[in-house]
Amino acid sequence: MSFLEELQQLQAQAHAELGAAASADALEAWRIRYLGGKGAVKDAMQRLKDVPREDKPASGKAANELKNALQAAFDTRAGELAGGRGKAKGPKVDVTLPGREPAIGHLHVITQTINEICEIFGRMGFTVAYGPEVEDELHNFESLNIPAAHPARDPLDNFYISEHVMLRSQTSTVQIRHMETHEPPVRIIAPGRVYRPDTVDATHYFMFHQVEGLYVDEGVSMADLKTCLDQFCKAYFGEEVATRFRPSFFPFTEPSAEVDIQFHNDDGSTYWVELGGCGVVDPNVLEAVGYDNERYTGYAFGLGIERMVMRRHNIPDIRLLFDSDARFLHQF
Ligand code: FA5
Repeated sequence: MSFLEELQQLQAQAHAELGAAASADALEAWRIRYLGGKGAVKDAMQRLKDVPREDKPASGKAANELKNALQAAFDTRAGELAGGRGKAKGPKVDVTLPGREPAIGHLHVITQTINEICEIFGRMGFTVAYGPEVEDELHNFESLNIPAAHPARDPLDNFYISEHVMLRSQTSTVQIRHMETHEPPVRIIAPGRVYRPDTVDATHYFMFHQVEGLYVDEGVSMADLKTCLDQFCKAYFGEEVATRFRPSFFPFTEPSAEVDIQFHNDDGSTYWVELGGCGVVDPNVLEAVGYDNERYTGYAFGLGIERMVMRRHNIPDIRLLFDSDARFLHQF
């Protein structure tokens, strides 16, 4: 038998035995027998030197091919046996390995902020209330003392869905909805989305988030409002933050104010940023929901959440918050 015929026979035999190897032990025994340091392939390689000179090139090539073919067949069979074992005995998972956090993303920075706001006001005794984003004019305007002729009701300044139905333009709607269904005292905050056809720029978007606050009880005053917002700003932005209340006007509060927070530039100079509106709840609003406005007073506020997020994280443009660019969002 020539050397080449010997190799062919060896290959056929090896394949047959490999097919019959049905356990890890049998497979290992096969590997030692054929591919091991003293195995059949090694033996054939050593016997190459006895092959006649003219047959050497072809024989050497065939011996190498045999070695590669058997190694590949071994790898395939090992994979089959591992898979088969997995199916027979359970999932192909090593449950003893430590767990890895799956890449499922995280909460949007605005949601994180809303959670933090709820937590801070929660410590001050506020519970969280929610209302619909699609509203009627009664809750968005009328009950808030905003009569039909008021410029805030201009169809061009609101997203109307039908004649009397709209996307809410402020979270103040939740004040009304909550008071309609609860007796005083009430102490709620209401975070959520609001919609206005404002021209989009670095600080304005057509959809943004507000957090409304409402506290109604006997003897609630403007002084309580100032303390509450001052405490909130210190908790959220840090003890060094100063607040300022500027006289303003809202149809549903009297007196009304805008609340600003003071920030410091690197050079030590300061600047003020408007956070939202606030005031003492107008007696007409309490009356509209059936509260005794001789007995109860209250305060309310509505703060822009994007403004807070932008100040806290030094975000220069509101549009970055809504572009859904993962490279931006992963930073928070
Ligand atoms: C209001 O919406 C009143 N409802 C607030 C209020 C509540 C007053 C309760 C009194 C009592 P204003 O329109 O000023 O107020 O909006 C409040 C805040 O929302 C603003 O100070 C600003 O921070 C934010 N905001 C307003 N428009 C936009 C916009 N287009 N994009 C992002 N933030 C905005």
